[in-house]
Amino acid sequence: MARLDPHSCVDSEQRAPRHLRLELAVDFEARRLAGEAALVLAEGHAGALDLDTKGLTIHEARTETGAPVPFVLGHEDPVLGRRLRLEPPRGAAEVRLRYETSPDALGLQWLAPEQTAGGRHPFLFSQCQPIHARTLAPVPDSARVRLTYEAAITVPEALTAVMSAGPAGTRPGPRPHTRTFLFEMPQPIPTYLLALAVGRLESRDLSSRSRVWAEPETVDAAAHELAGTEDMLGKAEGLFGPYEWDRYDMLVLPPAFPYGGMENPRMTFLTPTLLAGDRSLVDVVVHELAHSWTGNLVTNATMDHFWLNEGFTVWAERRILEALRGEEVAILGWAIGEAALRSSLERFGADSPLTRLRTDLAGMDPDDAFSAIPYEKGSRLVALLERAVGRLRWDRFMREYVGRFRFTSITTEEFLAFLDQTLPGASATVAARRWLYEPGIPENAPAFRSPSLESLTALAQGWPQGRRPSPAEAARWSPSELLVYLQRLPRELPGESCRWLDESLKLTGRSNYEILVEWLTIAGGSDYPPAFARLREVLTRVGRMKFLRPLYQAMGRHPRTRALAREIFAEASPRYHALSRRVAASLIEKYVDAS
Ligand code: BES
Ligand code: ZN
Repeated sequence: MARLDPHSCVDSEQRAPRHLRLELAVDFEARRLAGEAALVLAEGHAGALDLDTKGLTIHEARTETGAPVPFVLGHEDPVLGRRLRLEPPRGAAEVRLRYETSPDALGLQWLAPEQTAGGRHPFLFSQCQPIHARTLAPVPDSARVRLTYEAAITVPEALTAVMSAGPAGTRPGPRPHTRTFLFEMPQPIPTYLLALAVGRLESRDLSSRSRVWAEPETVDAAAHELAGTEDMLGKAEGLFGPYEWDRYDMLVLPPAFPYGGMENPRMTFLTPTLLAGDRSLVDVVVHELAHSWTGNLVTNATMDHFWLNEGFTVWAERRILEALRGEEVAILGWAIGEAALRSSLERFGADSPLTRLRTDLAGMDPDDAFSAIPYEKGSRLVALLERAVGRLRWDRFMREYVGRFRFTSITTEEFLAFLDQTLPGASATVAARRWLYEPGIPENAPAFRSPSLESLTALAQGWPQGRRPSPAEAARWSPSELLVYLQRLPRELPGESCRWLDESLKLTGRSNYEILVEWLTIAGGSDYPPAFARLREVLTRVGRMKFLRPLYQAMGRHPRTRALAREIFAEASPRYHALSRRVAASLIEKYVDAS
């Protein structure tokens, strides 16, 4: 037995299945998927096959000829779930498993109609990264394994299903008032990129190879916000080579979606909180699009190498942003990331092993290790390498890297070996091994400077001495500039300062969620009552963990906001994604008071 992934029971001595065929019915009442998962075995498969499962009920296992396949479920690990060991007879080509999911599958969120824009139909979406595909289907749930897949998903007639795959038509469902959506995914993907969403959906074309899906109530706003997608695709292709996934479609989800975006191939999932109306938050789209190369083509082998996905993608995101909107804008992106990096370093402590890029998460829930470290420390290492060898050579390296490892999964060490072979000396010049294997941020971190960043920082640092922007000056700031300014203000301010900020900068009414949440973090942490109604509204409506975390944390500072946070949580949390609920609950548990 050889387990190369601490979060999967995939055995590297067994031959991994090649293809997955799903035939599932979506039952909104029971909150279950039920049906069949067929695993097409590797040619000449012999011996046992271990798969990951979590919360699945397996009813039956047979080969393609109907011969029973003996199976046994191992002991339950609270994080990893249960190993499913199958013993297919020699010569079997497929194992077909009849099964159903559990109503509290972590990879699925079932929304009541009132959690949608339309308010009349339920909604379902999946989020499989990092290790939740096993709650949807019995699969080899390690990023080391890639599969092609096809699916037939039966849903209530009024609803539409989309997946991280190409659409392959529809047919009448097996029961009245149902419809079956067919999908085919010809490119092999790791299971964390399996994705499904079902709801009342419409689409708008953005270009010949891109469209956006959303509820009818939001689809036009979404199309407006995302109109620049084809330009982004063009810039990304210029940097990293051809787009390999045919289409780039997107789905804008209801606000309960726990992330900003998820790079599901052919169908990026997006939070509606990026619909600011002025295209100011499309860096999330640039990021998910960039994963089409870094992450989806070249994939981290396990969550211990997650920085390979996210560090490279953040770096790529800022290069694409620079190509689209200039260097000043990209530098503001680095500055905004810097604040996130600092708060993660504070959360873990700068010498925590979780601040290494190459981690060792055995025995740990990867969702608990999630932070800005792989994103912002990782992207800084890539930027450092870029500066060390020069942009021309680094860009050539990136194309070679993607070309060499496309459709494979690699470790940090495989990346390093390729780097040392392709650009000898570069890793030593930047002390890459310190960046990768040691905690904290090395002193040779690249600096990002621009006149606008410098003046915003100076202005914010002068707050205690009474420096204020003139309203006319502030009105000229871009949304990113305002965000940078707010991030650099003190975390707690007296009431009259809060009032000055809100009145001069019109913060509470903002529709840009990054700005709004930054402001509410200050206002909540300052016990400033005029912001409480908006705080309640955001915490009740939005499930994005990036926003819940700072808000619930800031509200822990004062007795009145602690009480408010507890009250809001009690009301809102039944509708949060299970992971969002966990994050908020753990912050509230840490509140220090007697009440
Ligand atoms: N792949 C991530 C989201 C993710 C990571 C989900 C790990 C589950 C486990 C996605 O690409 C991402 O990084 N999203 C960010 C966007 C941001 C960096 C622009 C987010 O959700 O905030
Ligand atoms: Zn990402």
